[in-house]
Amino acid sequence: MIIKGGKPLKGRIEVRGAKNLATKAMVATLLGKTPSVLRNVPNISDVRVVAGLLALHGVLITKGENADEWHFDPSNVEVAHKADIDAHAGSSRIPILFCGPLLHRLGEAFIPDLGGCRIGDRPIDFHLDALREFGAVVEKLPSGISLTAPNGLKGANIELPYPSVGATEQVLLTAVLAEGQTELRNAAIEPEIIDLICILQKMGAIISMEPNRVIFIEGVEELRGYDHKAIFDRNEAASWAAAALATKGDIFVGGVRQEEMMTFLNAFRKVGGDFDVHDDGIRFWHPGGDLKPVTIETDVHPGFMTDWQQPLVVALTQASGTSTIHETVYENRFGFTDALNTMGANIVVHQNGLHDESRRVKRREFEQAAVITGPTPLTAADVVVPDLRGGFSHLIAAMIAEGESKVSNIGIIARGYENFIEKLRLLGADFVFEA
Ligand code: EPZ
Repeated sequence: MIIKGGKPLKGRIEVRGAKNLATKAMVATLLGKTPSVLRNVPNISDVRVVAGLLALHGVLITKGENADEWHFDPSNVEVAHKADIDAHAGSSRIPILFCGPLLHRLGEAFIPDLGGCRIGDRPIDFHLDALREFGAVVEKLPSGISLTAPNGLKGANIELPYPSVGATEQVLLTAVLAEGQTELRNAAIEPEIIDLICILQKMGAIISMEPNRVIFIEGVEELRGYDHKAIFDRNEAASWAAAALATKGDIFVGGVRQEEMMTFLNAFRKVGGDFDVHDDGIRFWHPGGDLKPVTIETDVHPGFMTDWQQPLVVALTQASGTSTIHETVYENRFGFTDALNTMGANIVVHQNGLHDESRRVKRREFEQAAVITGPTPLTAADVVVPDLRGGFSHLIAAMIAEGESKVSNIGIIARGYENFIEKLRLLGADFVFEA
């Protein structure tokens, strides 16, 4: 895309279901004896990748009368051909969540090497340790992981070393049909996790949320299909809000609820943005005046999500003063700042994090920090999108930079931002595509 900077984004766009719920809800259809319906499904490539994997395993997928309504019939789930699954290797991290459902259905599973954004080495040790606790036998192969459950899967007491979203989903998708009870401690409780628990409860699962990140699951004999409307995408909502702030614009983001965005809304207001909560969405705008620097510590829910910092950093390059982002969830999530610095930003990344007396989030071993000093006018540059959220921050930077920037490798953005090109056009962004 060739993007000309300087135009404020104004207008209304709709945010649909969360990438980080819809893909997991699709995997959950494997657990049901009868068909499932998922509504508010975003039109993103991550969804299509998971649909392809489900179809490979015999799930019949059809669309409802609305494009965002997907139907899944898991009656004929069978073992997929390893070669076919290999074709999907490296395309996303979701395949790791097929383990439990396939072990329950088929007694075996083969998971290709995972993909997903390069924002750290993204291990799956918590996942594999949990599966072994349930009685799975895990064999690592050059091209992926082969699992069997010779004695079936039995409930277990599992404590996660860190409230990992994926590992929590792994345990949920395995425990619901395991024999006996499972107690999961130090679980992730993000809104997308709660939405997945709602889906599983609709299917017939018995899951209770207890205080202090404990989830208790009583295994049942069988589950039926579900009918569910996916929760909205908080990460996409935060990205458009940051775009409104950075471009001095005014965007009504439809489909967004305040309850799941509260920590972001506080940060948005502290930087100098303004917002109005409506029943059908939230209006985000730049009220004029200087943007103010802030210190942000990313954390697990209900803290400031790690996926929200990238787009906001672009707005912070325009704030008058020095902001600090402590990235405590991933060990390498500031790669996108290189491109911003070539455009004239002043961002220093501290590879081993920064000590800060006023910190409230516990320091983690691999954390990093970024110090952003502004305001720094940005000038156009040619940039290549490194990952999903960093890529969106590059779009925002190009839209506020002086001149025409070329943003390449934008296909990554389509993984998680539904119809973002149409939305940018609707909001008045000034861009063309290079032939
Ligand atoms: C999910 O990733 C999301 N992806 C991420 O969103 C999100 O940033 C992340 O949760 C945190 O909220 C999807 O849901 C598909 P984690 P996930 O397991 O589950 C370490 C986006 O942009 N860890 O909570 O992979 C891990 O290295 C994406 O939409 C282990 O050490 O995240 C990280 O430091 C990016 N071993 C921390 O835990 C494990 O086995 C949190 O990871 C698993 C995780």
